[in-house]
Amino acid sequence: MNAIETHQLTKVFPGDIRAVDGIDFEVKDGEIFAFLGPNGAGKTTTIKMLNTLIPPTSGTALVVGLDVVKNAVEVRNQIGYAAQDVGVDEHATGKENLTLYGHFYRLDSKTIKERVKEIFDLVGLTGAENRMVSTYSGGMRKRLDLAMGLIHQPRVMFLDEPTTGLDPQTRASIWEYIRKLVKSRGMTIFLTTHYMEEADRLADHIAIIDLGKIIATGTADELKKSIGGDVVTVTPCENHDEECKEFIRRSEAVLTGKPFVTGTKPTDGELAVYVNDGASAIPSIMQLLSGQGIEVKTITMSRPSLDDVFLKYTGRTIRAQEGTRTTFAQLRRMRNRRQQK
Ligand SMILES: Nc1ncnc2c1ncn2[C@@H]1O[C@H](COP(=O)(O)OP(=O)(O)OP(=O)(O)O)[C@@H](O)[C@H]1O
Ligand SMILES: [Mg+2]
Repeated sequence: MNAIETHQLTKVFPGDIRAVDGIDFEVKDGEIFAFLGPNGAGKTTTIKMLNTLIPPTSGTALVVGLDVVKNAVEVRNQIGYAAQDVGVDEHATGKENLTLYGHFYRLDSKTIKERVKEIFDLVGLTGAENRMVSTYSGGMRKRLDLAMGLIHQPRVMFLDEPTTGLDPQTRASIWEYIRKLVKSRGMTIFLTTHYMEEADRLADHIAIIDLGKIIATGTADELKKSIGGDVVTVTPCENHDEECKEFIRRSEAVLTGKPFVTGTKPTDGELAVYVNDGASAIPSIMQLLSGQGIEVKTITMSRPSLDDVFLKYTGRTIRAQEGTRTTFAQLRRMRNRRQQK
């Protein structure tokens, strides 16, 4: 059985905002499935429909075989949800937060006590149970948030951007906890992210979503292979200044339209050149650029990334909001900014 299945799932908000526009996808039991997409793609809206928090405008969704509209109560008992914005109470301890959730699910005190201990251990917060959440770091709050979705031992866990704003180390440790959940509990994880690396490293299957539509699905490898060829990255300068930008512009102009070039993408200080065969393209690229007086500092060849996949299907790059550790206040501000949009 599939853990999640959708058919033409659609959400239209007032003002004809098609946040989710007829999506079909399947998540297998016991896998980590990632929705990868930029801001406003429709990730949270999809999660909210699957979580029974908002009804679809049309289409259907089954979670553990149950219809999210017709069997909403049963669905809720089988799922856990860690929202995009940390929902923990700052003025209580970690343990109090988790215990409260246990009561929400009407678990008895003995079960709550046992599970609280077990879950704190699972998410790596043992020792911090009795500290006020206001003293937790951003990463600890995210982990507590994740813990709160686990208290009733759900079969499917929804994580909306579980690592946004966290530093790479904390992000990696959260990935580790997510993997542990799947391994030790046989849980299915549905997560959303705009971090390429997160989808690439963590997910068994990925759906790339943009403007409410799924534009590609597959494993990270399948997606990368689907665009074929190699990426040759040319660095024509050492400083990221105006002169450098001009070099990149000129390089792009020289290479665009050449028969062996399938596309180009300028980035900060570099130019990515998509080619069918990197090894044979490199000498030609060097020759063409030096013929125009452009001196190449470095040139490398690699397989395409998920960013390249996104670019290929949408003509844009996912602007990942790379950031360092985020405080609760910053998370709030991020949320408010999003709401104002
Ligand atoms: N309640 C609402 N009313 C009107 N429009 C909404 C509402 N909720 C979301 N939207 C719009 O629907 C679209 C999808 O929003 P959604 O929150 O699902 O995106 P997202 O992929 O989660 O983005 P982010 O990465 O910023 O969290 C956006 O254009 C958003 O402005
Ligand atoms: Mg969102």
